[in-house]
Amino acid sequence: MRILKVWLHILSSVGTGLSAGRQADQMFRSYVLSCLDHIGVFRFLEQPRTYGEILAEFGFVDGSYTREVMETLSADPKTLIEKKNGRYQVVKDFQVPGIDEVMRDVDPRIRPFKALAQGMSSNILDRLREEYIDFSTALEREGNDLFHTFNQILGNKIYQSMRAGAFEFIGTRNLDQMRGKRLLDIGCGSGRESADIWLKFDGDIKITGVDPVPSMIAEAEKGFETYLLELSEDPPRITEANRPIFEEASATRLPYDDDSFEAVYWQFILHWTSDPRKAIAEAVRVTKPGGWIFGVQPFKPQANPYFNLVIRSNRNSHGFFWREEYRQWFRENGVDVEIATPAGMFRAQKVMRERQSSIQ
Ligand SMILES: C[S@@+](CC[C@H](N)C(=O)[O-])C[C@H]1O[C@@H](n2cnc3c(N)ncnc32)[C@H](O)[C@@H]1O
Repeated sequence: MRILKVWLHILSSVGTGLSAGRQADQMFRSYVLSCLDHIGVFRFLEQPRTYGEILAEFGFVDGSYTREVMETLSADPKTLIEKKNGRYQVVKDFQVPGIDEVMRDVDPRIRPFKALAQGMSSNILDRLREEYIDFSTALEREGNDLFHTFNQILGNKIYQSMRAGAFEFIGTRNLDQMRGKRLLDIGCGSGRESADIWLKFDGDIKITGVDPVPSMIAEAEKGFETYLLELSEDPPRITEANRPIFEEASATRLPYDDDSFEAVYWQFILHWTSDPRKAIAEAVRVTKPGGWIFGVQPFKPQANPYFNLVIRSNRNSHGFFWREEYRQWFRENGVDVEIATPAGMFRAQKVMRERQSSIQ
C-alpha cells in the first residue's frame, strides 16, 4: 500500500515536471555532443580510430573519464559511433543534433535552463584534458542565478513531489518519532528544501542543513523565512528551539559527533560528492541508534548517462552509481537500506549488526 502511494507521488511528479526533466536530459546530450563536435571529434572519427589516436589528436588524458565518454557515445541508443576491432568510427549520415532543434521540441518551462546546461556541458572538455575545475568554481562560473532559475521553473516542483514520496515511504509513525528531534539535511543548497521539510513537521523539528558551497549556505540563512512564506500561507512560528542551523560542510566529512541526529535526509546529492561510500559511512556514524536515514537518490541505469558525464566533469563529483553499490555501502556500515522504486526513494534504520568490512 505504501509503495503504491510512493508511486502516486512519482506519477504526480511526471505531471509536475519529470517529463520536462527527461527533456532536459536531451538537452544535456545535445550540448555534450556539440562540445565534442566543436573541437572536431566527430570529423576525426569519420575514419576508424583507436582510443590512443583519439587521445593523441585532442590532448585527452587516458583515464576513466575519457573512456566513459567514448563508452557513452558507443552505447547511445540512437547509435552514433560504432566500435569495431578496437576502433571507433561515427556511423554513416551521423549528424550532431542542433541545440535549436532540440529546444524547439522541449517543454517551454525548461528553455530558460538552456544557458546553465550549455555552461555545465562545456566543462567536459576541460575534464577530458584533466584541467578540470571543482564544483564550487563551476557554480561560480555558471552563476548561482541560473540554478535558481531552473529551480523556480522546474526543479522545486520535481523536488517537492519526490520528497513527498520519500516522506510517504518512511511513514507517519517514524516521522512522528522524529518530532522535536534533530534532523540533518545533507546538501541543503539554498535552504528551500529545508523549509519544506520543516513544514512537514509543522516546525516541530530541529534542522541542521549542510552544503559545501558557501554562497548556498549564506542564502539558506537569509532566505529560510521567505521560503516558509512561499510554501505556506500561515507557517508555524520560528523559535529558538526550532530555528534551523546552516553550516558549510561536505557529506563526506560531517563535523558532528557520532550518534548526533535522530534523522538524516538527502535528495539528489550523493552523485555530486567525491565519495558516496564515505558519505554513507558518515551518515550512519552521525545517526543515533534507532534513527533513520532517508530521502531520494537516483541510480544507474535510470540516471541519464550524458548528465552523468556533466556531473563527473567536476573535480570532486563521483557521478551516478548502481543501486547494488548503494546497498553494499550501507551494509558495510551494518545497516540495511530499503529502496522503494526506480525513482530512488530510500530508507534505512540504524539497527546495528556486525559490520561486513570497514571503510578504508
Ligand atoms: C540537486 S541540489 C539539492 C537541492 C537542495 N537540497 C535545495 O533544496 O536547493 C544538489 C546540492 O548538492 C550539494 N552538494 C554538492 N557536493 C556536496 C557534498 N560533497 N556534500 C553535500 N552536499 C553537496 C550542492 O551544493 C547542491 O546544493
